[in-house]
Amino acid sequence: MRAELIDGKKIAESMRAELRPEIEALRAKGVVPGLAVVLVGEDPASQVYVRMKGKACEQLGMHSETIRLAAETTEADLLGVVARLNGDPMIHGMLVQLPLPDHINETRVLHAILPSKDADGFHPENVGKVSIGDPTGFRPATPYGVQQMLVKAGVTTRGAHVVIVGRSNIVGRPMASLLLHKGDGGDATVTVCHSRTRDIGAVTRQADILIVAMGKPEFIRGDMVKPGAAVVDVGVNRVDDPSVEKGYRLVGDVAFAEAAEVASKITPVPGGVGPMTITMLLYNAVQAARQWAT
Ligand code: GUN
Repeated sequence: MRAELIDGKKIAESMRAELRPEIEALRAKGVVPGLAVVLVGEDPASQVYVRMKGKACEQLGMHSETIRLAAETTEADLLGVVARLNGDPMIHGMLVQLPLPDHINETRVLHAILPSKDADGFHPENVGKVSIGDPTGFRPATPYGVQQMLVKAGVTTRGAHVVIVGRSNIVGRPMASLLLHKGDGGDATVTVCHSRTRDIGAVTRQADILIVAMGKPEFIRGDMVKPGAAVVDVGVNRVDDPSVEKGYRLVGDVAFAEAAEVASKITPVPGGVGPMTITMLLYNAVQAARQWAT
């Protein structure tokens, strides 16, 4: 392997440590940053994420509340939970884990979250703020984590051509907004590709920095990466593997071994973007508590 690994776990740990003094300062003022996480149903991956989010809060001395609701919960009942959390003074930030069951309208739920408590940054008020570079807006945790990871790993975005593969509201679109901001981790030239892009390899091969978030296991092959590029793999896919006890293993959207022969830096899956996402969610919860306290 030629490429240097970008160790998301290590960067995430050091960023969590940087957050401690601010949490302690808020606690000293009588404000314990509180994050509520709402999970509807039993999606196994979501259960893992939700457990990790709660644990991460507790480790940093934050208040955390996890609300687990049955898959049959009605939209009205879920909106009731959101309204209660909107009014709960112990809770500064909240999120509703996605995806939601089909009978619940995701947009209605996300719009019901008070923008000042929207730790995920999915409410249109925050989407708008992030898009115009207003720092009081909450940046969605995954693209925020990718951006911070690039900064900490010494990958310069200024003037670089960043190609994003995927146009989701959770990753691709906000990623483009963040990279267009002025300053560290921004100032990039951004191209966004998606499932309808013609000859996608011809576009990805132009990337100085390639960020992949499309949800297709090992879609990006080695010959789609420009030699010397930095590659960030946001994908987490379960693929069957009878040779391991669990019966599956996790792979990203990038064929890691191939891409690592061509890239200069690359993130692994797992241990890349995942730990950063949870860390940036904690940053958002602390930002919510700070904005509430001032
Ligand atoms: N599902 C996948 N990613 C996310 C995320 O960042 N936030 C929430 N709430 N759900 C998700």
